[in-house]
Amino acid sequence: MKFLGEIRGQWRKWGSRLGVNSSPPILPVRQAYDLWAASYGKDSNPVLDLESKGLGQMLPDMQALAVLDLGCGKGRVSRLALKGGAKMVVGLDFSMPMLRGASSKLFSATHYLVSGDALHLPFKPLSFDGVIATLMMGHLGNLRAVLAGIAAVVRPGGFLLISDFHPYATLRGWDRSFVDEKTGQEYAIEQHVHLFEHYLANLVKLGFELQKLQEPLYEGFPVVFLLRARKQPEKQAESFEESEDPSTARKAVRLGEG
Ligand SMILES: C[S@@+](CC[C@H](N)C(=O)[O-])C[C@H]1O[C@@H](n2cnc3c(N)ncnc32)[C@H](O)[C@@H]1O
Repeated sequence: MKFLGEIRGQWRKWGSRLGVNSSPPILPVRQAYDLWAASYGKDSNPVLDLESKGLGQMLPDMQALAVLDLGCGKGRVSRLALKGGAKMVVGLDFSMPMLRGASSKLFSATHYLVSGDALHLPFKPLSFDGVIATLMMGHLGNLRAVLAGIAAVVRPGGFLLISDFHPYATLRGWDRSFVDEKTGQEYAIEQHVHLFEHYLANLVKLGFELQKLQEPLYEGFPVVFLLRARKQPEKQAESFEESEDPSTARKAVRLGEG
C-alpha cells in the first residue's frame, strides 16, 4: 500500500506538468486541526504504524513521573504515559476540538488537559520529568523557540522524546493533508522542515544530550524519525557548528527558522 501523501504528491507533480493546479489549499495549523478533529485518528496508515512501533521502543520508564504531552491532540500519547505508570500527565494543545476528543477518552484523575500554544508554555520552570512531542514539531516554524520553552519546563535529568515526519520525506513532496469529512474538500496543513543538524544544535545549546535516534524506513525511505534526549543534570551551554538554514522550500513546506 502506498502512503496517501506520496500518491498525492506524485499526482500533483503530474498535474503541474500538464499545467493543472491540483494542490489542495493550505490551511494554518490550528484551523486545520479544528476541522480535522471530527475524523482525526479514524484511519491508520503504514507510516503512522511505523511511528507507533518506534514510540513503543523509545518511551522511557515513566513510573511515577510527571509528563507533558505537547500537542497532545486526542491523547494517544497521554494514554501511553498513563499506562506506563506516570503519576501525572498534562496534555497541551491549541485546538479545542482536538482537546475535546482527548477529554472523551481519558478517565484518570491524574490527567490534565490544557488549552495553550506550544510556543508559550504556561508552566513553572522545571515542572516536568519529561516532555513528549509527537507529530507536531513540523507545524512550528521556530524550532529554537519551542525547544527553549521545553528546556525551561524539564527538570535536569529529565527526558524529551520527539517524533515527526522525516525531513527527507517532507522535502520529497509528502505533505500533511486531510479530507474534510463534511465537504469532501482536501486540505494541506502548513508545515516546516527542520533538519537534524538544527535539532541537534539547539538541543546541545540547551543542555540536552542525544540518547537515541530512529529513522524507520518505508519502502526503503526514511519516512518518520524518533529522537530521545536527556537534559543533563548540570546544564552546560555548549556550542555546535551549525550551518545556515538552506532557504529553498516547497509551496506547502517552509524551512523552519532553526
Ligand atoms: C498530528 S497531531 C498529533 C497529535 C498527538 N501528538 C499524536 O501523536 O497523536 C498534531 C497536534 O499538534 C497540535 N499543535 C500543532 N501546533 C501546535 C502549537 N503551536 N501549540 C499547541 N498545539 C499545537 C495540533 O493542534 C494537533 O492536535
